[in-house]
Amino acid sequence: MVMGLMPIKIDDVCEAEVISLENEGSGVCKVKGITVFVPKTLVGEKIRFRITEIKKNFARGKLIEIQESSPDRIVSKCPYYNECGGCDLRHQNDIKNLEFKRQKVQTAISKIGKINVKVNDVLPSFKNENYRNKASFKVEEDKIGFYVNGTYQLVDVKYCMLLEKEISDTLTVIREYIKNNNNSIKQVTIKHGNAMNEILIDVYSTDKQDEKIKTYLISNVSNLKTIIFNGKVVYGNGYISQISNGLMFNCSSNSFFQVNGSMVDKLYEVAIKEAKLSKSDVVLDLYCGTGTISCIVSSCVKKVIGIEIVDDAVIDANCNARINNVSNVKFICGDATKEISKIKEKIDVIFVDPPRKGMSRDAIAIIKKMAPKKMVYISCNPVTMARDLNYLSNVYEVKKIIPIDMFPNTNHVECVCVLSLR
Ligand SMILES: C[S@@+](CC[C@H](N)C(=O)[O-])C[C@H]1O[C@@H](n2cnc3c(N)ncnc32)[C@H](O)[C@@H]1O
Repeated sequence: MVMGLMPIKIDDVCEAEVISLENEGSGVCKVKGITVFVPKTLVGEKIRFRITEIKKNFARGKLIEIQESSPDRIVSKCPYYNECGGCDLRHQNDIKNLEFKRQKVQTAISKIGKINVKVNDVLPSFKNENYRNKASFKVEEDKIGFYVNGTYQLVDVKYCMLLEKEISDTLTVIREYIKNNNNSIKQVTIKHGNAMNEILIDVYSTDKQDEKIKTYLISNVSNLKTIIFNGKVVYGNGYISQISNGLMFNCSSNSFFQVNGSMVDKLYEVAIKEAKLSKSDVVLDLYCGTGTISCIVSSCVKKVIGIEIVDDAVIDANCNARINNVSNVKFICGDATKEISKIKEKIDVIFVDPPRKGMSRDAIAIIKKMAPKKMVYISCNPVTMARDLNYLSNVYEVKKIIPIDMFPNTNHVECVCVLSLR
């Protein structure tokens, strides 16, 4: 539609009924034929909203009033919910949130993947609050918190209901420093290790001097294990430890580790069980991070090869193999697409756990040529996962898709897909 001919304009106040929820959890309404997304509304609700943004094919609105409320609506207990962009589904009950996530995966699989498989029910998280073991905060003058979704507007948060208590406690200590110092800190990342209740703090500052904040953190954060200042380890050995599936994993600041501490065991348990491994299998763990899957499966198979692009994560992975007495794994540092093309061995089973953007077409083409008999594709982005499954679908059959709620109260969902060679 040509912009000038749009039948609605910015600041128009409209009334409509929500007909569905879109991929990121906003309510979808129609106004004069235009699709409008209104966050924090639910299917069946009659709402009044203001148009805030008009694009070529759709518009966005901000809720003013719910005229008729959904029976699935609940009151959010988070005081920051209306401003902060971190959670998007705190206003809907947990059962409906799981249904939304299953449907979101099903829609991606059918529409983008063009695959005819019924997605399983979502496995719920053991914890719906206080589950995140990592958070990154923005800092502006004496404020520390998160940006409003899609903006650079900072919401000053004293705590966050998603975070493990140890992270919120550390945030309180850092907030005090920020309030009392004319500081140059721009960003702070806090990680909590469950193995020994350790805190890692990674500070980015425009100041080159670390002494003041370092001394303060050492005196005030009781379970502090390590500080990274502008990319350099300035206190401790640079990592914290996580226990998962009975093994210990060192994890440094730049290395990926699953953020929902209450569900890590379950995620790997499901993925590994579905792979139906045998003692003679040679396994490829593509996008292996700190070597979690590699080390966990190592005792059930002949050999594992892990590939990961972040060198700190590969250093962690090698260390993790050593501390867990694993001797049949080999980790390669490099880009997945480049490194798999160099593998000469016959691979029986492949685990693929890419970042949100999914896999490259070239990597998929190489895997199709390698033709391992079984593939387990783990993903936190149903859209790129569905696209990749479509590319794989002439060689691999999708047997099962198991969504797992690694991110309660948000629109996000993890999936384990089980594929076998046709
Ligand atoms: C979702 S994480 C999975 C990590 C690991 N499987 C786990 O469960 O902890 C994705 C990993 O892929 C790595 N990665 C991103 N792009 C990559 C690439 N082009 N080649 C290899 N690894 C990559 C990231 O550094 C990250 O460790």
